[in-house]
Amino acid sequence: MKVDVLLGMQWGDEGKGKLVDALTREYDVIARFQGGPNAGHTLEFNHQKHVLHTIPSGIFHSDKLNLIGNGLVIDPVIFKAEVERLSGFGMDIRKNLFISKKSHLILPTHRLLDAASEASKGTLKIGSTLKGIGPAYTDKVSREGLRIGDILDSEFLSKYQALRDQHLRKISQFNFPFDLKKAEVEWLAAIEFLRTFQFVNGEYLINEWLESGRRILAEGAQGSMLDVDFGSYPFVTSSNTVCAGACTGLGVAPGRIGNVIGIFKAYCTRVGSGPFPTELFDETGDLLRKSGAEFGSTTGRPRRCGWLDLVALRYTVMLSGVTSLIMTKADVLSGFETLRVATAYKIGGKITTEMPFDTEAPVEPIYTELPGWKEDISKLRNKENLPVNLNGYILFIEKYLGVPISIVSVSPDREATIHLK
Ligand code: GDP
Ligand code: IMO
Ligand code: MG
Repeated sequence: MKVDVLLGMQWGDEGKGKLVDALTREYDVIARFQGGPNAGHTLEFNHQKHVLHTIPSGIFHSDKLNLIGNGLVIDPVIFKAEVERLSGFGMDIRKNLFISKKSHLILPTHRLLDAASEASKGTLKIGSTLKGIGPAYTDKVSREGLRIGDILDSEFLSKYQALRDQHLRKISQFNFPFDLKKAEVEWLAAIEFLRTFQFVNGEYLINEWLESGRRILAEGAQGSMLDVDFGSYPFVTSSNTVCAGACTGLGVAPGRIGNVIGIFKAYCTRVGSGPFPTELFDETGDLLRKSGAEFGSTTGRPRRCGWLDLVALRYTVMLSGVTSLIMTKADVLSGFETLRVATAYKIGGKITTEMPFDTEAPVEPIYTELPGWKEDISKLRNKENLPVNLNGYILFIEKYLGVPISIVSVSPDREATIHLK
C-alpha cells in the first residue's frame, strides 16, 4: 500500500480539515505530519462546526485510526483542550489516536520566545500565530528539544526545568514582561493528561499498517507557500509543508507515497505578513472576505484576500508532484460578472511565470479575465448542475496546471463535496 497525501497549495486555510474529514471514508488511517497548533482545521457536519489544531481530521469517524507523526510540535495545553472539547460530544479518542514518541513538545517558554521575538521585530514581524512554533522547531533542529517520549523518562521534570531556564535567559535579553507561573502549572497538568495517551514508534507503526494493507491519508497543515524552504522566506512557518514533509514527518519512504492531492481555494487568502501578489485592497477584497467568512480559525484575524494566483499554484504543484486537485469555496465566487486569475508576473519590466527569489520585489500580476456565474451553488451536490462558467473556470485552471481537478467544494458542510472525475 501507499500513503496518499493531502496538502494545502496556497498560504493555508484552503479547507484541508473539511476535505480530510469528507475523504476519511475512503481511508483507514489519517496522519498529521508537520506543524502544530498554528493549524486550525475546520470541519462541519450535522450543522455542527469543529476546529482541530493538533488532532488529525479523521477523528470524527470512530472506526478509523489517527496518528500524530514525529514531524509535529505539540502544545499539551492546547491538545488537552481539544480532547476535552471532543469529550463534550461524548467522544473518547484514546483508543484510536496514536502519538509518535519523536514528536516535539512546545513549552510555555516557547510561546514567550515567539511573542518576544515578534514584538522585537516591529513592522517586520512574521505575523506568527504566537503558538511557539518557530522556537519549538528551533530547539528541535539545534538538538535541544524535548520530545513526547521524554515524558516517560524519570528525569523529565529536571530536563524540562533545564530547557525552561535556558529559554528564560534568552527572554531576559528582550525586555519582555511576563508571568510564567500560571502557564507552567497548567502545562505540567496537561503533561499528566497527555501521559494517558498511546505513545508509539510512529515510523514502525505506519509501515506495519502499510504492510497489512491499511489505506492511509497524510494530512498537511499550513500551505506550500508557507514552506520553510520554498515559501516567501522569512514570512513562512518553520516546517516543510510540501509533500516531502510527509516522508520525514512520518517515517515513510518516498517510494511509498501514492496520490498527492493538492487543495486550493478558488481565490487566494493569506493571514499574517509577507508578499501576496494578487492581494486586493479594494471592495472586491472586502467582498471576498465577507462572503468567504475569511477570519482565521486559530487567531480570528481577518485574512487578506485576492484573486487566484496560478503562478504560485503551478509552483506548488511542481514542488509536490501533485496528481490531482481539489478546489474549495467555489460558492464564494458566485455573483461576480468577471473573474481574474494571475497567469504571469511582471517584475522590473520583465514578464515571468516563475516565483522570484526576492519575494519583496514589487510584483505586478498579469491577469486573464474569465466570465463569472450568478447562481448560488452552495446547495449543489452533483456535477451535472454546475454553472457553465464554473466549468469553464475549472477547465482553464486544469489546462494551465496540467493537473485534473477531481473535487469541487461548494460549502463548509462535509456533504457539499462534488466529485468531478
Ligand atoms: P484548513 O486550515 O485548510 O483546514 O482551513 P480552515 O478551516 O482554516 O479554513 C477554511 C474555512 O472555509 C473554514 O471555515 C471552512 O468551514 C470553510 N470552507 C471549507 N470549504 C468551503 C467551501 O467550499 N465553501 C465555503 N463557503 N466555505 C468552505
Ligand atoms: P492551517 O493548517 C494559515 C501563518 C501565520 C504566519 C506564518 C508563521 O490552518 O492552514 P507560525 O505560527 O507558524 O510561526 O506563523 O504562517 N500560518 C498559517 N496561516 N493557516 C495556517 O494553518 C497557518 N499556520 C501558520 O499566520 O503568517
Ligand atoms: Mg486553517
